[in-house]
Amino acid sequence: MNRPLRLLPLLAPLLLLAGCDGAGVQSVLDPAGPQADRIDIVWRLMLWVCGAFYLMVLGFLAVAVLRHRRRRRAEGEPPEPHPGREGGLRAALAGWVGLIALGLLTLIAASYVVDRRLAHASGKQGLNVQVTAHQWWWEVEYLDEDPSKRFKTANELRLPAGVPVRIELRSSDVIHSFWVPNLHGKLDLIPGRANEIHLIPERTGRFRGQCAEFCGLQHAHMAFDVTVEERGAFEAWRAHQVTTAAEPATELARKGREHFETSHCAMCHAIRGTKAAGSVAPDLTHLAGRATIAAGALPNTRGNLAAWIADPQGIKPGSRMPFIGLEPDELDALTAYLETLR
Ligand code: CUA
Repeated sequence: MNRPLRLLPLLAPLLLLAGCDGAGVQSVLDPAGPQADRIDIVWRLMLWVCGAFYLMVLGFLAVAVLRHRRRRRAEGEPPEPHPGREGGLRAALAGWVGLIALGLLTLIAASYVVDRRLAHASGKQGLNVQVTAHQWWWEVEYLDEDPSKRFKTANELRLPAGVPVRIELRSSDVIHSFWVPNLHGKLDLIPGRANEIHLIPERTGRFRGQCAEFCGLQHAHMAFDVTVEERGAFEAWRAHQVTTAAEPATELARKGREHFETSHCAMCHAIRGTKAAGSVAPDLTHLAGRATIAAGALPNTRGNLAAWIADPQGIKPGSRMPFIGLEPDELDALTAYLETLR
């Protein structure tokens, strides 16, 4: 390998950082609200300060190597006398230490100021949501003083643009870390404790949230959808969510509902407006309106629903969804019914 190519790995970290700038549904570098914006500023400051020091260290290293070579080539010659060398070295060392201290102080000050600002972001609030951690899914409840306006969904968050949101984070049986990098930093959901995160989504769009703390077998399948939309669209969605499930229109779907209400399904899941009122698994009242199933493990299609019901442990080993052993016609009726739950 020739010499310039051998130096390439040294520059890899900078090339990597230069390449990951830009838009993304799950990116710290594409903030969609003021909280994520502040975190982004600290991130960039750290990149530039640490990047500058990294390049300076590489520069000094290169100078030392070149000098050493030159000296080796001129071996035999008496060393040149350097009368002022000691003093110059001492001054350079002091300058370098000062520079490092300045860099570190800048980073400490910036992260302290941003941390304080984020901690005091509470105050005026428009929307109250409670997110509860489970093994392995996210329960989402939209709170309201009027109980008839409360409803539950799973693995999805819809938020109105420009409205401050307070999200209460709780857990039933596991420690997850709630993280929507486009909107805010990470915060843990811990059993027996309520945490709060305050954010203001300012830009409409679809973002991806993900558990950011290893929580066992299905840590990787702990995603959720975040949709930020205009206030009118959000209110329409909310008004639809509080309604009970649609009546099945076909004979097949009716059979599916009957099966749901009289089998294992109803012991864990709820579908408002039916006899199914279980509370340990996701509320399925408007399941068909969600983009994914099993906490982002699969896109929400009828085929995937059937695969998930037929073999949950094959798709998400360790999840609490049990194998229930349905006949093919029962599975067909069940998925036909679940598809009507818009
Ligand atoms: Cu929850 Cu990782």
